[in-house]
Amino acid sequence: MLKTALNNSHELLTEIIEPGDLVVDGTVGNGFDTLFLAKLVGKSGKVIGFDVQEQAINTTTEKLLAEKLLSRVDLHHKGHEALETMLTAQDKVKAAIFNLGYLPKSDKSIITKSDTTLTALKALLSHLTPKGRIIIVIYYGHEGGLSEKDAVLNYVKNIPQADFNVLSYQFINQKNNPPILIAIEKKAKKHAP
Ligand SMILES: C[S@@+](CC[C@H](N)C(=O)[O-])C[C@H]1O[C@@H](n2cnc3c(N)ncnc32)[C@H](O)[C@@H]1O
Repeated sequence: MLKTALNNSHELLTEIIEPGDLVVDGTVGNGFDTLFLAKLVGKSGKVIGFDVQEQAINTTTEKLLAEKLLSRVDLHHKGHEALETMLTAQDKVKAAIFNLGYLPKSDKSIITKSDTTLTALKALLSHLTPKGRIIIVIYYGHEGGLSEKDAVLNYVKNIPQADFNVLSYQFINQKNNPPILIAIEKKAKKHAP
């Protein structure tokens, strides 16, 4: 059976994340991706997580504590657009995930927005390791979602092919705005012959 966008996003991350890696959860929400990443990076790795909602940070902190994984995660109650200010030039990020949209069962007016999403993406591209991946799952059925979808798609379509692979994955015969998964992969450096 074909994988859902969510299952595919986790598989694309599992394929590359190794113990010791630095990874980013750009939209922590209820913490499902944060926990998933914390398991993959092992004791020596680190997850940096962002959410603008205190409720999301608190819920996720509790989940991580229950699983004894909190030491692997730095949670920030702020927008992912702050990422660049937290990384040094030497910091290399192996993977990142963004689930765009609003937090289910929460305030639907608190949504990700294209300008801040793109600020975070641009910062990540310059810190991504070769073979590193950024996964973006675009939910766009809500008010404001279409303009963010268009802005993100327009941006990722124009990422230089010489340095990055960019993939789009979506069920195109489903009703109700099926999510679009975007995977950006930094190409491995070519060795001189
Ligand atoms: C679709 S939900 C994320 C779901 C989450 N990945 C999970 O596993 O439950 C989107 C989240 O993005 C958050 N958000 C909105 N704007 C943000 C920003 N600028 N930076 C970080 N998070 C943001 C919302 O508060 C919401 O929790």
